[in-house]
Amino acid sequence: MSHTDPAPGHGQVRLHVVTGKGGTGKSTVAAALALALASHGRNVLLCEVEGRQGIARMFDVDPLPYAERRIATGLVGGDAGHGRAGSAGTVHALHIDAESALLEYLAMYYKLGRAGRALDRFGVTEFATTIAPGVRDVLLTGKVYEAVERNSRNRGATTYDAVVLDAPPTGRIARFLNVGKELAGLAKVGPIRSQADTMMTLFRSPHTAIHLVTVLEEMPVQETWDGIEELRGDGLPVGSVVVNQVRPREIDESVLATVRTGGVDEAALGADLEAAGVEITPHLVDGLVAEARDHAERRALEEAQRAVVDGFGVPVLELPRLPGGVDLGGLYDLAARLREQGLG
Ligand SMILES: Nc1ncnc2c1ncn2[C@@H]1O[C@H](COP(=O)(O)OP(=O)(O)OP(=O)(O)O)[C@@H](O)[C@H]1O
Ligand SMILES: [Mg+2]
Repeated sequence: MSHTDPAPGHGQVRLHVVTGKGGTGKSTVAAALALALASHGRNVLLCEVEGRQGIARMFDVDPLPYAERRIATGLVGGDAGHGRAGSAGTVHALHIDAESALLEYLAMYYKLGRAGRALDRFGVTEFATTIAPGVRDVLLTGKVYEAVERNSRNRGATTYDAVVLDAPPTGRIARFLNVGKELAGLAKVGPIRSQADTMMTLFRSPHTAIHLVTVLEEMPVQETWDGIEELRGDGLPVGSVVVNQVRPREIDESVLATVRTGGVDEAALGADLEAAGVEITPHLVDGLVAEARDHAERRALEEAQRAVVDGFGVPVLELPRLPGGVDLGGLYDLAARLREQGLG
């Protein structure tokens, strides 16, 4: 593979943020990554912030509350391909919503246990749903930060070796993580300001890696590059590009080229099919040739986009398109692929 090695020192990463264009596979990759990281007894937290309960669907469990739930055992076999079974770790999941994060924050920092519940009745919930999007983001990222840097304020809570965030899409990710900037106009000094600064220190550090998921099509690949540039511009650490849903590549490029340029001998193809016992009609042969050309053209587009991605100067990983879609077994398959390629 022409790809560069996985992000140097990713072993020290404690927060993996997974972004990408909508529908490319952010949630799938985040879940697979959490399974891959949960080996050797490591404890991993998989978080979602978009209120869509994607994690519960993928792992086939009840909708997640605002509480950490153990949802899976990590991928077994820490040394892929060497036949030595490493011990698995565990994956917990957390569904973060801004309202609950605000109430928990107030309770943790201002000991507003009961008052917090009263506030809820008097409209914190409404407040949290109508606040500026930037403030909402700070509540969400604040909870992620708390899970990564867990300290004694959250007594008795599980501590994690790594946190994986199923994050907002590429178009919003830099802004989402750039809580300092968002708060600049609101809080110039004081505890909120200094907490935002502390959060930014983590998000910009080598302990964070932001991975971008894409498929090999022009728009998502372009969006990936725009995202990389924006993140770099904001000093946020880009991890890997994960090329997802890659089509099988069994057919030789020379064959594909023949198909693309209309060089298929239809008479010979018809004869071959007939010899194989297929009852042929001109319609059938034409249809097959058209389908083959379509596949060959799509493959050529994919190869062109692959070259673009390889030119980003970022470690690239690939995941196959699973023919039957992604069930729980499929997530473990993808986790194994990630680990083979050095992530997890
Ligand atoms: N490698 C794969 N092989 C087959 N199907 C896949 C693969 N990756 C993702 N999918 C499927 O593609 C769909 C979109 O994936 P997913 O929900 O992970 O994307 P997303 O980027 O999180 O989407 P959204 O922007 O809506 O949050 C899902 O149905 C998922 O099962
Ligand atoms: Mg998703």
